[in-house]
Amino acid sequence: MAESISISKGANKEDKYRELLPQIKALITGESSVIANMANITAALKETFGWWWVGFYIKDGNELVLAPFQGPIACTRIGFGKGVCGTAWKEEKSILVPNVNEFPGHIACSNLTKSEIVIPVFNSKNEFVAVLDIDSENYDTLDEIDVKYLEKLMVEIRHCF
Ligand code: SME
Repeated sequence: MAESISISKGANKEDKYRELLPQIKALITGESSVIANMANITAALKETFGWWWVGFYIKDGNELVLAPFQGPIACTRIGFGKGVCGTAWKEEKSILVPNVNEFPGHIACSNLTKSEIVIPVFNSKNEFVAVLDIDSENYDTLDEIDVKYLEKLMVEIRHCF
């Protein structure tokens, strides 16, 4: 197993994803523990992109519960349809929020969060199981490039559920 993530200096965002995804895939493919894989994914994303908060919430009945993350402490439970995470669950699609002040019902775990992206995670039977939530301290920093590569990445952890 690789002991560190290696990304070329000066790479742009898309190049970073292109270098990072195979490394994460190699890290998680042979591991069946969802907790271990989520933990390493959040660490690799935080290290590569430096976002404010990167973490998972896992479906637990009719709520999402906090799972491995990197960043400050966060809300532990989010209801179905609540906030960006609960909406991504309800709609079963990725949600990009360039300005959290413009998203009705946004749950502010930290008032430093300015923009965010939430990607739903499905198991190998295509059932919703979790979300990946990424928060930035700046407006408009997350975009369709992030959606594209993070959705690809979330396919790689289907085998753990
Ligand atoms: N941003 C989320 C809440 C979770 S925290 O940001 C970590 C939301 O509105 O769903």
